[in-house]
Amino acid sequence: MRRPFFLILFTFLSLISQAQKRKSHVTYRVTGKAIYVKHCMTCHQSDGTGVQNMMIPPLIKTDYVLGPKAAIIKILLNGLNGDIKVNGDNYSGEMPSQAVLKNSEIAAVLTYVRSSFGNKASPVTVSEVKSARAANKKAGL
Ligand code: HEC
Repeated sequence: MRRPFFLILFTFLSLISQAQKRKSHVTYRVTGKAIYVKHCMTCHQSDGTGVQNMMIPPLIKTDYVLGPKAAIIKILLNGLNGDIKVNGDNYSGEMPSQAVLKNSEIAAVLTYVRSSFGNKASPVTVSEVKSARAANKKAGL
């Protein structure tokens, strides 16, 4: 009689944890979108297309957005200015640092960007932002 009880309990608990995971993913995307609207949209536009003639690159399937997470986190922490190539076009604009954002906000906004505008890349976690920020500090940036 003990086994079925544990089986039921286990199924029940795993259902709860799945539901919670789904919920936290949804919340993350909602917060991520809000942060995007507030901190990125004026430049990169609501649909991530950027404004090419103002030197603002798109966030749609770019090497930076889909590439290594440490690199994209670093762009947010330090900003970016220099000559870069995005989806075949040259840009030499200036992106201000977004380092005022908390680790959780950076994780959420990058998770949103990497899973919106046609992008399908894995989420960015708070601990990934934390270690990228630490490495950044160590490098004296
Ligand atoms: C004031 C305008 C501005 C804001 C605000 C801004 N960016 Fe940028 N961003 C730029 C510009 C300009 C570049 C290109 C810099 C260069 O040419 O070196 C860029 C480059 C990038 C890149 C790398 C290139 C690419 O398109 O893949 C990413 C990723 C990015 N921004 C994400 C973000 C995110 C996410 C936010 C919000 C947290 C944000 N940016 C806020 C202007 C901005």
